[in-house]
Amino acid sequence: MIDTHTHSTLSAYYLQLEEQYVAHNYHPLPVVFSRGQGVYVWDVEGKKYYDFLSGYSALNQGHVHPRLVKAFTEQAQKLTLTSRAFYNDQLGEMARFLTSLLGYDKLLPMNTGVEAVETALKLARKWAYQVKGVPKNKAKIIVCENNFHGRTLNVISFSTDPLAKEGFGPYMPGYEIIPYNDLKALEKALQDPNVAAFLVEPIQGEAGVIVPDNGYLSTAKDLCKQAHVLFIADEIQTGLGRTGKMLCCDHEQVKPDILILGKALSGGMMPISAVLANDEVMLTIGPGEHGSTFGGNPLACRIAREAVQIIIDEHLAENAAIQGAYFREQLLNMHAPLIREVRGKGLLNAIVIDHPHPDAAWKLCLLMRDHGLLAKPTHGDRIRLAPPLTITREQIDECLAIMETSLKKFSSTY
Ligand SMILES: Cc1ncc(COP(=O)(O)O)c(C=O)c1O
Repeated sequence: MIDTHTHSTLSAYYLQLEEQYVAHNYHPLPVVFSRGQGVYVWDVEGKKYYDFLSGYSALNQGHVHPRLVKAFTEQAQKLTLTSRAFYNDQLGEMARFLTSLLGYDKLLPMNTGVEAVETALKLARKWAYQVKGVPKNKAKIIVCENNFHGRTLNVISFSTDPLAKEGFGPYMPGYEIIPYNDLKALEKALQDPNVAAFLVEPIQGEAGVIVPDNGYLSTAKDLCKQAHVLFIADEIQTGLGRTGKMLCCDHEQVKPDILILGKALSGGMMPISAVLANDEVMLTIGPGEHGSTFGGNPLACRIAREAVQIIIDEHLAENAAIQGAYFREQLLNMHAPLIREVRGKGLLNAIVIDHPHPDAAWKLCLLMRDHGLLAKPTHGDRIRLAPPLTITREQIDECLAIMETSLKKFSSTY
């Protein structure tokens, strides 16, 4: 269905094109971008908006960061793809940079987030058989309810979201699902000697920014260590400055055995994801056992190095911590009856809408769009608020004003 509240015939044209020729596997907010810069995007009519989704946190550095554009265009003119049948002069540099920054022996490059998750799971199984001594085909991986790790058949096999899972069976065995933020359940699940790994999001982003209790990650890591089980952190959404530290696990000084990165590693430019681990885990996979045509391509590797260096140079994690704390405090101070809860860490935040109308969150997003701020509901009544980490105090104030106006408009309309 095309929303009738289109801004003009040009927007309507692009909406219609996608409706007709693109698979209906998304339900986009009706706004058509043609340009982005920093925290802003412009639609095809030239109207300017704040981007509070940031490509699902792939744009931590902001849209078309000049340093990324430079790295991209320079590298694109030199060498873009070698495949790993050969070496290139960018992959090793990027791997050395990230492994020394984050404290791991090695990195395995992939392209999308879900591919990196698959890679981590394969590594965990291999490690279980080769190092831990789990009997053949018995390795088990513990995951959490309401997880989101991507869309492949394997990964949806352990999803608890019927929308993501139903109709796609049969499913891959070998997973045990426990409640999130429940250490007792983890302790119990870890009693099985065939457990290879515990896969967890440090904050559940897609589920609606569910922040676990303080101490959850560090105790979970300790429990895994005692049980000789790998602790795998999916930091695809939470990593690279988003929550106010380079990694969300850094808030509890937890070092995962396997770390998964994606999204902002690309700076929004060129898909790249990575799995980091020490040799005991990483060297269980040998030549021919895993790979990807584009994984480790020089263009993406050059961009990834620049993307992470920007986060360091521009103190984006620190800015996320400061602006995020201020943003949540001001949202709470609004005392808006429509907001039941404000939660998050750094600049990964969500509000939970309190209204009987089932589409209340969607309608509020449409009103915010009209006033120049773009966000999208996740799971019905939750709206994720995750601008680029370059956002300033003045811009946050302007966004708060937009939200306040939109909330008032909502209350007077519905
Ligand atoms: C925590 C987490 N893991 C995995 C993914 C999947 O990443 P991709 O869409 O790049 O495959 C996402 C995407 O939203 C995510 O948030």
